[in-house]
Amino acid sequence: MNHTPYSERRARLAKQLGKGAIAVVPTAPVQQRNRDSDFPYRADSYFYYLTGFTEPDAWLVLDSDGRSTLFCQPKDPERETWTGYRLGPKAAPAALGVDEAHSFEELDERMPGLLANTRTVWYPFATHAGLETVVDSWLQDVRGQARAGLLVPDSQRDVCTLLDEMRLVKDAHELAIMRRAGQISAQGHVRAMQLSARQLHAGAGVREYHLEAELLHEFRRNGSQFPAYTSIVAAGANACVLHYPAGDAPLKKGELVLIDAACELDGYASDITRTFPADGKFSGPQRALYDVVLASQRAAFEATRPGARFDDPHNAAVKVLVQGLLDLKILDRNQVGGVQDVIKKRAYFPFYMHRTSHWMGMDVHDCGSYVEPGEADQVTEQHDPISGQTVQKRPSRILRPGMVLTLEPGLYIRPAKNVPKPFWNIGIRIEDDAVVTKSGCELLTRGVPVDADEIEALMRAAA
Ligand code: GLY
Ligand code: MN
Ligand code: MN
Repeated sequence: MNHTPYSERRARLAKQLGKGAIAVVPTAPVQQRNRDSDFPYRADSYFYYLTGFTEPDAWLVLDSDGRSTLFCQPKDPERETWTGYRLGPKAAPAALGVDEAHSFEELDERMPGLLANTRTVWYPFATHAGLETVVDSWLQDVRGQARAGLLVPDSQRDVCTLLDEMRLVKDAHELAIMRRAGQISAQGHVRAMQLSARQLHAGAGVREYHLEAELLHEFRRNGSQFPAYTSIVAAGANACVLHYPAGDAPLKKGELVLIDAACELDGYASDITRTFPADGKFSGPQRALYDVVLASQRAAFEATRPGARFDDPHNAAVKVLVQGLLDLKILDRNQVGGVQDVIKKRAYFPFYMHRTSHWMGMDVHDCGSYVEPGEADQVTEQHDPISGQTVQKRPSRILRPGMVLTLEPGLYIRPAKNVPKPFWNIGIRIEDDAVVTKSGCELLTRGVPVDADEIEALMRAAA
């Protein structure tokens, strides 16, 4: 394995720990699904970011001089017959670039020695159940030896605060993986569109889970280890349920299908939504609404550049969505006023109830503060017209090259008496992944068409 990016990250983290400090980062535990059967194992994102190591029962310890110690599963031929090959402590330094490695069974024995004479211990807060207690027990051990003149660390700090900032700005190694994940996911969406068109044109049935199967097949056959999140494949009115998981509803001619599905590749997520007509042809109202959402996403795209704020793409998208809702008379101008009134009162909320973006990286909703760190104390209080409560606002994050965020506006029109009937039960979301570049942003997920005419052409060709 090329351990260079991981070694570099460890060195960068070590420099931020401060003098005489140590960081402890465990990986994720194995989770049981039911008797004798576990969930597919996925390493902890922070741990993987620093090691590239995917075995369970592993811990990284790093000191402020950059010295790294890995604790991992010991070689055990009998266990390995059941659960698979283990790297083992002997091979770990060469494979992972760590300075030394030991069995995780030696953790409690060795940690007090590693912590003694340091000032600060860093570990992830509120991430691993019981970790605080484990660290406490090591510190107790060190304290027990204090009479021998050992120093006991007197400060505990959250290593996530450092790692979140590091992970927020992606390096070249990460962006290469994310680009590839985006391509694979896009190809999965293409296949789902093609299958839908083919089946409906042949007069054959097709259900949500058939499309999910196309997506998962495409992800896995390209080396993706997992879907990045539970696939949403929502036929017709199901699209108005934001987290609807693919079920068994049949796709119907004349209805839309919303797919929000994407793969995880080598620890990195992608996140794509497309909405398309099940049989490949948009109706008039569907197309009108679709074009509003697409225009709003374009506005968000144009607002995504270095120096802009995280909130800017959202605000740009909302403006276009609101204008569209007024133009299509889904919102009645006589009742709600103009664009600015609707935004102020958030009268668009019944039709657009989520944000336009989230950070994306190893986690699909990735870590990283949404508030600009240097401006966190600039608090303004605002009245929230939906909840009726006063909420605190802080200036949102300033975008920098290498940050990755989604652009995912949508409109969800449930039946309601004041809403024109042709729009009832239409749910549309369009989602792409944007990496902030030096001059704007690059979309990683445009291997699947987004323009309505292009979607129709792709589906015509497949039918
Ligand atoms: N697929 C999860 C999201 O769009 O946020
Ligand atoms: Mn998303
Ligand atoms: Mn999504």
